Amino acid sequence: MGIVTSFTVGNKVIDLPAREGSVGPSVVDISKLYAQAGMFTYDPGFTSTASCDSKITYIDGDEGILLYRGYPIEQLAEHGDFLETAYLLLYGELPTSQQKDDFVYRVTRHTMVHDQMSRFFQGFRRDAHPMAVMVAAVGALSAFYHDSTDISDEHQRMVASIRMIAKIPTLAAMAFKYSIGQPFIYPKNDLDYTSNFLRMCYAVPCEEYYINPVLSRALDRIFILHADHEQNASTATVRLAGSSGANPFACIAAGIACLWGPAHGGANEAALEMLAEIGTPDRIPQFIARAKDKNDPFRLMGFGHRVYKNYDPRAKIMQRTTHEVLNELGIKDDPLLDVALELERIALHDEYFIEKKLYPNIDFYSGITLKAMGFPTDMFTVLFALARTTGWIAQWKEMIEDPSQKIGRPRQLYTGAPRRDYLPLAQRR
Ligand code: CMC
Repeated sequence: MGIVTSFTVGNKVIDLPAREGSVGPSVVDISKLYAQAGMFTYDPGFTSTASCDSKITYIDGDEGILLYRGYPIEQLAEHGDFLETAYLLLYGELPTSQQKDDFVYRVTRHTMVHDQMSRFFQGFRRDAHPMAVMVAAVGALSAFYHDSTDISDEHQRMVASIRMIAKIPTLAAMAFKYSIGQPFIYPKNDLDYTSNFLRMCYAVPCEEYYINPVLSRALDRIFILHADHEQNASTATVRLAGSSGANPFACIAAGIACLWGPAHGGANEAALEMLAEIGTPDRIPQFIARAKDKNDPFRLMGFGHRVYKNYDPRAKIMQRTTHEVLNELGIKDDPLLDVALELERIALHDEYFIEKKLYPNIDFYSGITLKAMGFPTDMFTVLFALARTTGWIAQWKEMIEDPSQKIGRPRQLYTGAPRRDYLPLAQRR
């Protein structure tokens, strides 16, 4: 640790030390700044602020690199599966064959949810957004599984982690089934994680359901791509909620709430709605013009990223997966796909998008793929939440086990009224 910068406040010289990570930019440690200088730093949106140490995920946004525990996302998506990725994120290493069997067994044995949860669902309107249902249902897990909410107990933390990863597909499928008025389908534990989820979504009690291995593999890959993404808004939310000692189910519910927003996980839903609104390729120029107009709040959904100022590596894999799914389903002339491909082509050649480094992000393609698989748009963010639960849990666990962990408590630059005296009602104008 060396001193990177010094500055003077009055007569006092303040030294700020640097800390280096294993790869990527180092940080200036300002944790003692207020005590030494009586000043805070100011960084709304955390564009230059590292909020924690983490060994889980590394992103180089300029180069378009994404690593989980050091492994490139391309290799994990090509050769691995989702539960193996979950193990990697949670424990730091790829599992041996025995460790994998054991992990899969433990997750699989926790896929059912308490039977009273099904009654909990009945309280919602059928047209409720499934993300609203998910925030509530996941938060409610803490009311059902008291024996894994003591965060100071390592065993309980482990059980809560496995439960969250195992039950989130069951809850997501229940939210889907409830919204379409079909009976819930119980998990079937001889199926793999993603096939089981597909079955819980699409099977009905009156007939057999056959898993399409191409679709199952594609969805599994989508889950891998969405499993973690460093300190994004929802992960930071999970960590902040967890920093107060809240139980993991409540923390994941907070993460789901944050993910719902259109600037974050809701973008794939928004991207698809935008493609439908554009409708035909000839209308693209007017939407591009709107996106460039400073006086118009419209943005091209599915373009741009806070961190990637290059092609999002997940978007490249997703683009391939999209074509695999469409081929498998024999979808050749989808008007949305025509609009999407033409929009991608135009935006990649447009000066505005090139100069601002706005590339299609993963959400641009995932919406098209999930729609082709039969998911309604309001389920897209639910699927994102399902996959990201693994990352949230790994980040939550890392935070709880970090001895330097403190409650997260940002400060502010106060710009409101200075002290003033209360006026009785009769004296106010
Ligand atoms: N369409 C048109 N202009 C854009 C867009 C867009 N999608 N995204 C950014 N810009 C412009 C923006 O107007 C600004 O221009 P100027 O410098 O002239 O003011 C410049 O690019 C930088 O934008 P910013 O808002 O400062 O960048 P940010 O890092 O705060 O925002 C973002 C990142 C993802 C919120 C933003 O690009 C966006 O709103 N994109 C559309 C929503 C979307 O696709 N979100 C999914 C993100 S990926 C999934 C995830 O990780 O959750």
